[in-house]
Amino acid sequence: MGQQFGRQSWAEPWKIKMVEPLRMLTREERVDALQEAGFNTFLLPSEAVYIDLLTDSGTSAMSDRQWAGMMLGDEAYAGSRNYYRLEEAVREHYGYTHIVPTHQGRGAEHLLSQVLIEPGQLVPGNMYFTTTRLHQELAGGSFVDVIIDEAHDPASLHPFKGNVDLGKLEDLIRREGAARVAYVSLAGTVNMAGGQPVSMENVRALRSLCDRYDVPLYLDATRMVENAFFIQEREPGFGDWSIARILKSFCSYTDGAWMSAKKDNLVNIGGWLAVNDPAVFDELRNLVVVYEGLHTYGGLAGRDMEAMAIGISEAVADDYVRARIGQVRYLGDLLTDWGIPIVLPIGGHAIFLDARRFYDHLPQDEFPAQTLAAELYLDSGVRAMERGIASAGRDPVTGDHHRPRLELTRLTIPRRVYTQAHMDVVAESVNRVHEVREATRGLRMTHEPKYLRFFQARFERL
Ligand code: F0G
Repeated sequence: MGQQFGRQSWAEPWKIKMVEPLRMLTREERVDALQEAGFNTFLLPSEAVYIDLLTDSGTSAMSDRQWAGMMLGDEAYAGSRNYYRLEEAVREHYGYTHIVPTHQGRGAEHLLSQVLIEPGQLVPGNMYFTTTRLHQELAGGSFVDVIIDEAHDPASLHPFKGNVDLGKLEDLIRREGAARVAYVSLAGTVNMAGGQPVSMENVRALRSLCDRYDVPLYLDATRMVENAFFIQEREPGFGDWSIARILKSFCSYTDGAWMSAKKDNLVNIGGWLAVNDPAVFDELRNLVVVYEGLHTYGGLAGRDMEAMAIGISEAVADDYVRARIGQVRYLGDLLTDWGIPIVLPIGGHAIFLDARRFYDHLPQDEFPAQTLAAELYLDSGVRAMERGIASAGRDPVTGDHHRPRLELTRLTIPRRVYTQAHMDVVAESVNRVHEVREATRGLRMTHEPKYLRFFQARFERL
């Protein structure tokens, strides 16, 4: 009893007002559903899923204030008042001058890539992201990875594994010439590295390097709020700064940002682009009407922009971010205690199981991370996502598989959706799958789409 006095738990700074019932299929039904889905969790109907950790994208629970905001949608074609509210929220919290709404992150990536990249140019960045790289390639660019080496090592405990290796970047600029570099593509909390952050020191140094060579610096701000939390927690001098202050300060070192608002901004759909350069803005604003919609709605309803504006301000509250990342850590700590290999340090939005070590008998060409996602679904109906060789796709020049060092299965935690008890159930399922790992066989790809193959590829068991 005495021990309890020393305990200091965190808890979510919200309570639940509305619930959505979950359904669990029988094991036989799951076997059929997985077969039907070609062993690809993206192809499962969500009704066949019990706890859905496919992604943290668009899966957040909105607050009562956001839902109330939905009723204030001004569905005017041009100049909706909700657009101005969004503009104000982005200016206040991210600090950029000009804002273009888009239907989601990849809409923004498309426009920015088309405007900034000339065919033949290079786009260095801190590890690739699937849609980001594809849009850079479709615009005629080539992505070059300049993240620090530690990012490719799931066991390295470096506190800022998202950092750019300034030496690698400077070598590239010197070797190829600054004119060949379209811009530096910097992501806050690097998704494919396990949700790993970039330090304030790194972005400052990156800014001066970019200034020296006159290369623009653009930020993928999708999970930048979570990045700000890690700076507050780990970087000397920032312990008493608010998340909001860190976020705005970090963004001030960049020329603009693109956003999948479906993550940090706590909405089910939406995105935006924000830049300081009026000439770039002019081009973006012109292009958005071709692909997304008028520059004051960009493929969104007025109500979506209102929910986004409210979500932006809710997401920078310190107690919210602490509980959000606390939940991810709760799951990660359980798994680590049980000896299950995961990417460390635990990142912001997900636990990444290290499928290479989990299934050390499976070669990468037998899709260990895809296999693990399939086995988890079979065990409990928990849906995870592959982030390994299938996601990495093929080299557009040689046609061979990209073979990333990281072969990971992602348990992605939606924001404000699941409870701690759900995390227990997930951890127990991972543990059961781990216990029978040696008897598990890998997969063979039977259908391979041309673009972003992981979304629609089909597999069968070897
Ligand atoms: N950038 C990052 C870092 C992302 O994680 C995503 C999406 C995007 C851009 C593209 O945004 O989906 O709104 O078009 N990531 C989701 C995920 C799909 O599951 O990680 P989008």
